[in-house]
Amino acid sequence: MKIVPLIPENAPFSVEQRAWLNGFLAGVLNRGAAPNGAASAESKRPLLIAFGSQSGNAESLAKRLAREASGRGFAARAAGLDSLQPADLIKEKNILLITSTWGEGDMPDNAISFWDSINQNGSSPKLDGVQYSVLALGDKNYGDTFCLAGKKIDARLEELGAKRIVERVDCDVEFDAQAKTWSANAFTALSGDSATASTAVVTAVEEEEAGYSKKKPFPAKLIANVPLNSRGSSKDTRHIGFSLTGSDLTYEVGDALGVFVQNCPEVVDAVIAAHAFDPQASVALPDGGSAPLRDALIKHYEVRNLYGKGPEANVTLTAFVENLRKLQPRLYSIASSIKKHENEVHLCIAAVRYSTDGVAHKGVASTFLADRLQLEDTTGIYFHAANHFRLPADLTRPVIMVGPGTGIAPFRAFLEEREATQASGKNWLFFGDQKRVSDFLYHDQIIEWVQRGHLTRLDTAFSRDQEEKIYVQTRMLQAASELWQWLEEGAHFYVCGDAKRMAKDVDDALHSIIQTAGGKSADEAAAYVTQMKKEKRYARDVY
Ligand SMILES: Cc1cc2nc3c(=O)[nH]c(=O)nc-3n(C[C@H](O)[C@H](O)[C@H](O)COP(=O)(O)OP(=O)(O)OC[C@H]3O[C@@H](n4cnc5c(N)ncnc54)[C@H](O)[C@@H]3O)c2cc1C
Ligand SMILES: NC(=O)c1ccc[n+]([C@@H]2O[C@H](COP(=O)([O-])OP(=O)(O)OC[C@H]3O[C@@H](n4cnc5c(N)ncnc54)[C@H](OP(=O)(O)O)[C@@H]3O)[C@@H](O)[C@H]2O)c1
Ligand SMILES: Cc1cc2nc3c(=O)[nH]c(=O)nc-3n(C[C@H](O)[C@H](O)[C@H](O)COP(=O)(O)O)c2cc1C
Repeated sequence: MKIVPLIPENAPFSVEQRAWLNGFLAGVLNRGAAPNGAASAESKRPLLIAFGSQSGNAESLAKRLAREASGRGFAARAAGLDSLQPADLIKEKNILLITSTWGEGDMPDNAISFWDSINQNGSSPKLDGVQYSVLALGDKNYGDTFCLAGKKIDARLEELGAKRIVERVDCDVEFDAQAKTWSANAFTALSGDSATASTAVVTAVEEEEAGYSKKKPFPAKLIANVPLNSRGSSKDTRHIGFSLTGSDLTYEVGDALGVFVQNCPEVVDAVIAAHAFDPQASVALPDGGSAPLRDALIKHYEVRNLYGKGPEANVTLTAFVENLRKLQPRLYSIASSIKKHENEVHLCIAAVRYSTDGVAHKGVASTFLADRLQLEDTTGIYFHAANHFRLPADLTRPVIMVGPGTGIAPFRAFLEEREATQASGKNWLFFGDQKRVSDFLYHDQIIEWVQRGHLTRLDTAFSRDQEEKIYVQTRMLQAASELWQWLEEGAHFYVCGDAKRMAKDVDDALHSIIQTAGGKSADEAAAYVTQMKKEKRYARDVY
């Protein structure tokens, strides 16, 4: 068959580039043979890159790898685990699965129904003929539950008869390098073409480096640090603002902001003194290079776990530094809409301060922002997309928001956004904190929204204003029939704040409301909630 050139000879490409592009396009359009690395449409090997992701890391990685794999010979697509049935796995045959772990060893929200579906007694699917590999994202600080979700899925897929083509890799917070090796090995195993694999991953990593990102944070100026609690409060919550001027950066409500932080110099000095090290001694930095010890400990290494502890006897400086973990940026839910605050991003941060065994501790990031970073000072920031936590595109849809404490952050942003976009859907906010008089965060703005009718309904739960605890879920249960009515009208239901207790209790309350007000059995209520999740009408931003 004669191949008709698709890229003309006078096009601004080298001979090699033109040949490759012609071959690639011919392959895509099925008009002729493809060059090396670009298979014809017919011969493309199907590849599903499935992700279980709560705060977006696994999702972004899956999407990047799918784009790269597509350009290099695979018929690849990325899909959330919430969109997959076991039958899809059997159909797809080649599966790379990336999942994080949340809560205390739990599946991320979008992996729960998938996990249930491959664990059903008696009706579990047979996955013979399916090839797979798992990349587990996690954080070693979680100890026994490190990467547990990925470990469980990996083991279960094997039990069901799927063939593991590459060993699972368990990644700590810095997952890029491990993900690179894992995907290179997996692409090789799937295609038998090592060149395809390594180019794909290198490009994926490079792609992330364009513009400001976690790897290249924007030095943002602190423009606001306002206490949100008043006298008599036992809490210290701050409204924090950064300027985006000069960055061209933008964000969507629901996203989080990554903030690079520094350790408290007093804490660092105490750790150095306890070991009798020379603060000026040169030490290796986690990403290469070297710096004086004191500087390195303030800016580059996690030291909070060492503070107030007895020093390990006779440890050398080199061994001490080798055992340290890299200081990680912290994520914060964005509390503003850029449509209302041009070139600004706002956060709502609870300063972490507590004592154990008589030693006072302070959270690294929250007290860096509350106490140490001065107005007009800069620190590195980046945006972290949260595609699972979005307002409904249909502006007429009602939204129900449950956000006690700092959980209010994304809902201030949602309400600002709904105002700016003149969304006509009803808005219902559940807010709670310790005491009305001192802890009603964003009181004036919220009350103004109520008075203007922008907030259709506000329910507050101040836990320490009376003998018995009143929490947001108490208020939900009291308003069960109206809440059920909103759900039946298609309301989107959002939860933000404490993951350990609040989010679980609110979830229980939601199930209970669907049973009592909706007249459903426990199983039917569970199915209703699963359906809400599938329709992206139940989203959580919990930490
Ligand atoms: C997606 C996402 C969004 C978030 N949004 C927000 C937000 O909007 N606002 C907000 O304030 N935070 C938010 N967080 C939490 C935030 O990222 C930080 O974890 C938080 O500020 C604490 O960080 P830190 O560096 O100050 O504390 P760290 O130095 O990391 O110390 C925290 C650690 O101290 C220990 N600790 C804390 N309290 C106690 C105690 N009472 N007793 C014993 N040990 C204790 C625990 O081990 C805890 O993990 C969010 C997290 C995520 C993942
Ligand atoms: N990783 C970290 O170190 C870190 C840092 C900051 C925040 N957080 C998490 O984020 C959460 C938010 O912190 P915050 O200070 O903004 O608020 P918070 O501590 O969650 O408190 C907000 C309100 O929620 C109430 N509450 C307590 N248990 C609850 C439950 N089971 N169900 C519903 N409401 C409940 C509290 O009541 P009472 O206090 O009166 O019981 C308070 O009235 C924290 O709980 C914490 O888990 C973690
Ligand atoms: C509230 C919370 C709970 C977490 N629980 C665990 C855990 O139990 N085990 C673990 O290995 N990692 C845990 N992690 C770390 C996440 O798995 C890790 O940050 C991962 O990169 C997140 O990926 P995602 O954005 O795709 O969800 C937790 C993180 C947070 C914020």
